[in-house]
Amino acid sequence: MPRAVITGWGKCVPPLRLTNADLEQLCDTSDEWIVERTGISERRISHVEATDLAELAGRRALACAGVDAADLDLIVVASCTPEILCPTMAAMLEERLGAANAAAFDLNAACSGFAYSTSVVTGMIESGFARKVLVVGAEKLRFIMDYRDRSTCILFGDGAGAAVFEASGSDECGDGAGVLSVDLGADGDQGKTMVWTHMGSKGDPSRTIDPDDARLHFEGQAVFKIAVQGIAGSASRALERAGLTADDVDLVVPHQANARIIESATRRLRIDPDRVFTNIAHHGNTAAASIPMALHDALDEGRISPGDLVVLTAFGGGVTWGSVVLRWGDRVEPLGAYEGELPPTDATVFDLLQPNLDFFAPEG
Ligand code: UT7
Repeated sequence: MPRAVITGWGKCVPPLRLTNADLEQLCDTSDEWIVERTGISERRISHVEATDLAELAGRRALACAGVDAADLDLIVVASCTPEILCPTMAAMLEERLGAANAAAFDLNAACSGFAYSTSVVTGMIESGFARKVLVVGAEKLRFIMDYRDRSTCILFGDGAGAAVFEASGSDECGDGAGVLSVDLGADGDQGKTMVWTHMGSKGDPSRTIDPDDARLHFEGQAVFKIAVQGIAGSASRALERAGLTADDVDLVVPHQANARIIESATRRLRIDPDRVFTNIAHHGNTAAASIPMALHDALDEGRISPGDLVVLTAFGGGVTWGSVVLRWGDRVEPLGAYEGELPPTDATVFDLLQPNLDFFAPEG
């Protein structure tokens, strides 16, 4: 049976930074509080749509893998802030990339979206349906942020990350490389802890959107506890399923939700901090994009070596959780690079946030 091996990785972050000092001007918070409670110093805010971020991350991952888009069998985009619902972002990418032979769909498991997508494409590769797959996590979370609500707006940022999966069996993949096991789960009973309704079909068609429906609601402390338990439990089950233990793990690449969540969860797993990758300081929580962005940065910083055992683990709205245990292949360097960039912008970060302020808190 073929295994699903990651052979390409890419990332796209928009250029505009929203720093903690910027947020001090928008709501009652401080750089000190945000860094101490979350580990976040800045996050990126997008001047383009989520599909534009996804496209560039996808092109970079394909160039890294040396894979032609025409050879893709499947494109999956994980997102909880899709640009529109239909056509899907994956279908838009199929057209933009020229992936004429690929099936395409979006998957929403909130912040667990990349772990869920990896599990799904692993099954499709193992069953023989697909040999080359592009998975992208992409988010424009600023769309649902009330920048006067300090309990949510400090956490989230925009961005995209992508990975190319290929069926093992080629020289490219390396012996024994690929996804070894997965664990997925959900608890709808806890769904009320993270809610945004605006992009669904709730209620009747209306020309007016109630800002209270459109903003993200969440219960931070409840989510914190669910996250720690969710990540630790799910990663343990995935390791057990692979016949491995925490001692075998070379690097954990967790969903970047909060540095304290990552510390608590990996302490429970008995994995010391030098085997845990974080980039939350500069990107905040980018939901489904966070793991592929972190995977890209981990490779870029030389934190993954050929043959390493890597664990991807996430929790998110729903609530959902998911973990993937994989053996890295022979190659940790890109085969090629895509030189394109996002279109430039003259806007400031405050220009981009003004519509949010006008919509969510006009009196603020
Ligand atoms: O991907 C899944 C998405 N969700 C998450 O990842 C969220 C998980 N939860 C968290 O990351 C944390 O719960 C938060 C960062 C949201 C909050 O951190 P906390 O340590 O749980 O703080 P808290 O809610 O217990 O609040 C402590 C104090 C409160 O003041 P009082 O009542 O003690 O006077 C808050 O009002 O801190 C206050 N506070 C803030 N102060 C300054 C809450 N938010 C802020 C803020 N700046 N941004």
